[in-house]
Amino acid sequence: MRTQVAIIGAGPAGLLLGHLLHRAGIDNVIVERHDRRYAEERIRAGVLEQGTIDTLDEAGVGERMHREGLPHEGIELLFDRKRHRIDLTALSGGRAIVVYGQHEVVKDLIAARVETGRPLLFEASDVAVHDLDSDHPSVTCVHDGAAVKIECDYVAGCDGFHGICRPAMPAGALKVFDRIYPFAWLGILAEARPSSHELVYANHENGFALFSMRSEKITRLYLQCEPEEDINEWSDDRIWSELHTRLETDDGWKVNEGPIMQKGVTPMRSFVCEPMQYGRLFLAGDSAHIVPPTGAKGMNLAVADVRMLSKALIAHYASNDDTRLAAYSDTCLKRVWRAEHYSWWMTSMLHRFPESTPFMDRVQRSELAYVTSSEAGGRVVAENYVGLPFAD
Ligand code: APR
Ligand code: PHB
Repeated sequence: MRTQVAIIGAGPAGLLLGHLLHRAGIDNVIVERHDRRYAEERIRAGVLEQGTIDTLDEAGVGERMHREGLPHEGIELLFDRKRHRIDLTALSGGRAIVVYGQHEVVKDLIAARVETGRPLLFEASDVAVHDLDSDHPSVTCVHDGAAVKIECDYVAGCDGFHGICRPAMPAGALKVFDRIYPFAWLGILAEARPSSHELVYANHENGFALFSMRSEKITRLYLQCEPEEDINEWSDDRIWSELHTRLETDDGWKVNEGPIMQKGVTPMRSFVCEPMQYGRLFLAGDSAHIVPPTGAKGMNLAVADVRMLSKALIAHYASNDDTRLAAYSDTCLKRVWRAEHYSWWMTSMLHRFPESTPFMDRVQRSELAYVTSSEAGGRVVAENYVGLPFAD
């Protein structure tokens, strides 16, 4: 098989890149380890920044997102039993977010891909990349019981944090920056009407809690828990009781309960690999960086990377101009580090740390009071949350 760009991974990064390249007339093949159902049903985060919304629209895959997604113009920070609204739109020059599950984005992108008839190989095993430092790299895998070799000009490593592309870079060619947090998030999806229109991020002495939603009928909730938390220790009753405690307010606002459809524990880490390129291999999304979910940046960063990579590849094929490809890693890393700082900062402001002291608790409270009472403080939360403009 011969193609221009071989894409490893059919998450948001790989699928969107494949679609943007296809629309520009650049041939590509997508190779994915899991089956279609796995890709479409894995529950992940659900906040789309303004730039992500615009990119999906420009790619022609935003129709269902606008129909079924929930537009939001603010978020709330809860501390000392009071909710404080951050007016995202007023504080960011008119930008906003849409709440729409990542797996819904993936479904829309897979449907768009299938419609083009271009190759998307699910359940590919033994995926490996070769000759990345030459001008004729290739990808090999086993698909439908047969060995497949894909010869290409470029390889896009969109295979997530546990993929094979980043480890294929020689150890001496990359530098890794890592931070593991001393807690995780226990997340549930409940069949319950969301009792607030906006997301509520809570700092409570028992730990962080987040109220979110997926639709008019489904509530999404998270609780800070131990990093190695055993989910079996958390009965439904214990989860609801802890959520009510951490999300309790003086005005009597209460989370609606309902049958729990799904439970899971998400570890929290910050991670960056520099550079995001080696020879003909370009990393995008979680394969190159991870953020803790507090800033809702994970999928948005993946979209920003592939937007940049598609423009760089289009410039290469349309006008033999490799300036953008050469600048890809540096350009992406500027946005990545902004999001790394923001996600770390929101995490630090809202969670309970095991090593916390009464002094640190007071400092955290003071910061929350500042960002919810000063316009300057609110703007820092808002303009980062809705996403800064793209570099291009
Ligand atoms: N070969 C082929 N596919 C692979 C391999 C492999 N060796 N390893 C992993 N994959 C696939 C995974 O099965 C997955 O479908 O690559 C895909 C990577 O997708 P994601 O993990 O969703 O990563 P990405 O597309 O970068 O999207 C980032 O995911 O983790 C969230 O918060 C993050 O929302 C962000 C988004
Ligand atoms: C979610 O709805 O899953 C969600 C929302 C906001 C976050 C993280 C996750 O910061």
